Amino acid sequence: MAAMASRTLVTMALPYANGSIHLGHLVEAVQTDIFVRALKAMGRDAIFICASDAHGTPIEVNAAKVGIAPAEFVARFHQEHAADYAAFDIAFDTFYTTHSEENRLHAEKIYEKIKADGAVEQREVEQFYCEVDKRFLPDRFVKGTCPKCGAADQYGDACEVCGSTYPPTDLKAPYCVLCQTPPVRRRSMHYFVRLSKYQDFLRQWTSTKGRLQPEILHSIDGWLSEPLKDWDISRDAPYFGFKIPGEEAKYFYVWLDAPVGYLSSTDHWARAHGRTVEEFWAADADCDVVHFIGKDIVYFHTLFWPAMLHASGWKVPSQVHVHGMLTVEGAKMSKSRGTFINAREYLDAGLEAEWLRYFYAANLGTAPSDIDLSLSELKNRVNGELLNNLGNLANRALSIVYARFEGKLGRMPEASPNDLWSTAAACEQEVSAAYLRCDTRAAVQAVLSLSSRANEQLQRTQPWKLIATDRDAAQAELTLAVNVARVCARMLAPVVPKFAAGVAAQTGAPLRWGDFTPLENAAVGEPHPLVRRIEDADLAKLASRFVAAAPKPAAVPAAVPATARKKPAVEELPPAVIDLAVFAQTELRAGKVVACERIPKADKLLKLSIDLGEAAPRTILSGVAKAYAPEELIGKTVVVVANLSPREMRGEVSHGMVLFATGGPRGFTVVELSGEVPPGTKVK
Ligand code: MSP
Ligand code: ZN
Repeated sequence: MAAMASRTLVTMALPYANGSIHLGHLVEAVQTDIFVRALKAMGRDAIFICASDAHGTPIEVNAAKVGIAPAEFVARFHQEHAADYAAFDIAFDTFYTTHSEENRLHAEKIYEKIKADGAVEQREVEQFYCEVDKRFLPDRFVKGTCPKCGAADQYGDACEVCGSTYPPTDLKAPYCVLCQTPPVRRRSMHYFVRLSKYQDFLRQWTSTKGRLQPEILHSIDGWLSEPLKDWDISRDAPYFGFKIPGEEAKYFYVWLDAPVGYLSSTDHWARAHGRTVEEFWAADADCDVVHFIGKDIVYFHTLFWPAMLHASGWKVPSQVHVHGMLTVEGAKMSKSRGTFINAREYLDAGLEAEWLRYFYAANLGTAPSDIDLSLSELKNRVNGELLNNLGNLANRALSIVYARFEGKLGRMPEASPNDLWSTAAACEQEVSAAYLRCDTRAAVQAVLSLSSRANEQLQRTQPWKLIATDRDAAQAELTLAVNVARVCARMLAPVVPKFAAGVAAQTGAPLRWGDFTPLENAAVGEPHPLVRRIEDADLAKLASRFVAAAPKPAAVPAAVPATARKKPAVEELPPAVIDLAVFAQTELRAGKVVACERIPKADKLLKLSIDLGEAAPRTILSGVAKAYAPEELIGKTVVVVANLSPREMRGEVSHGMVLFATGGPRGFTVVELSGEVPPGTKVK
């Protein structure tokens, strides 16, 4: 993020009040919520603004279908959404609606400014009109045969079979989606914003450093390389929305007033809190406006919206952060496959909100890549990381303090350079920076590695034994562990607020970002598990809905005559280049193989149990059973890639990789370290 102003206004996209929110919406909500919570934890003046997006044709049509007024229809979804987000601890400062007087006023004012700027034009357009339903048909309400490939039943904007896009009036044999009858063509006057007038501004705005992710900027540069098309901002009645001033049966297109909802909801919140909308949105306000959105609505947020703000004299956004789409078990969420999961269904299945928050945080980086929810990974991460690593640190140390020291902490051990406590301070810097750049994955990894170190230290100093010979030293080690657990908990609080609150309650003192005065000689409470372990039964409920997709016939590659097949020379292959920054993320550690066995029916795999200096040895699978007998590897100190996501193979879960050289007499040769390197040591 670019240089920071003294306050930050954060938004997520306004969900349509036209259906229940699902696990995909929650990716965005969790990412945005973590960002805001982190800002607030760091003591910044931040507000989190959201609202229901209440307008548009689909809402009006669906309300009519169930026979209620659209305003009532959206009000019901608004309530449901608010409750669902609250259940996932999404802490909006306001969750308002675009169907509000504030929004009408702001939308009208912005429109008048753009008009006064000379950028609004009127002209006639020809569209499909359904004489049965008495309405013009937007792209998604008309279907027909694709003009390019002839595929039947394609929507009015694009063909899902051949991928081409076209104006709806190009469709062959068009029919109305609502009543299936063929529409007629009808002309109507529309209002357009001449976006090309703002093209220079948009070029400059989009190219300002820190505003957009490089991946996003790339496609925008493409859009901006040609004159921008005029934007149709009007819709004919019947419509649910705001009437265009001076018109009787024409409305603002929903995407005109929807983003204005960011501003009008701020206004609504500000009035209730003795603040003003200008503090946040005036062109010269000392505020960063940061929008979180999904990949599918980039155009609206990086071209239309900044142009509207610029033309009407408001502040333009400082940053638009784009996330990818959620897939479930490797495929797009689908109703027919049962992988389309509503927020409420997840909770009703008895699953914990914090499991999902943790999983999303651990998977979301700075890039707008898609994120996949795999139930086995959810379980492995939550149980292996949140419980066994982080939860275990607090729980183990507190249990001994509680049982053996009458629940009282002692003093911290003597400080030494590079000790655990100074590492914790450095870690918090790293974690702050990661949150600020929306890299929750890096933040989680940094917290985990600090927690691993603290667990290692407990394992090494063994206070439960030390207590017999040096009670003070044992208490000091436990005091240190409890304090590090508190730092870990507060660093992770934006992700798992309840978990963190549990640590605060059990250690008897609030958690404060940046506070490195350790808790000493204080009384702690009785430890309880901080988060429930995921059992297979928890996941079975969701997984039982999943229907396997019909197996696709394997794609048959075109036959190539054997003589034409050429083995590429090594030189022909471009070397795969990775960034130093990417490579530096690989965490290599020394590990001692404490056990090793074959896996029945998997003739290539060995199952290794490797001591990495953590609370318990890790299971790691390796495909070298043809090269090594299990007993040959036991006792060796090997190099482990320690920060990989758990991976399931043959019913076993592997928590890392062991390095082997490819080659040598056996085909693989283990990379061995001298036994003097203690387990857990970083290899650089
Ligand atoms: N109402 C508009 C946004 C107006 S903002 C001024 C809208 N609503 S939506 O309900 O369809 O989507 C809201 C947000 O959820 C969007 O940012 C969208 O990208 C995101 N997601 C919807 N489905 C998603 C996934 N499957 N995965 C991740 N995010 C997804 O668009
Ligand atoms: Zn019709």
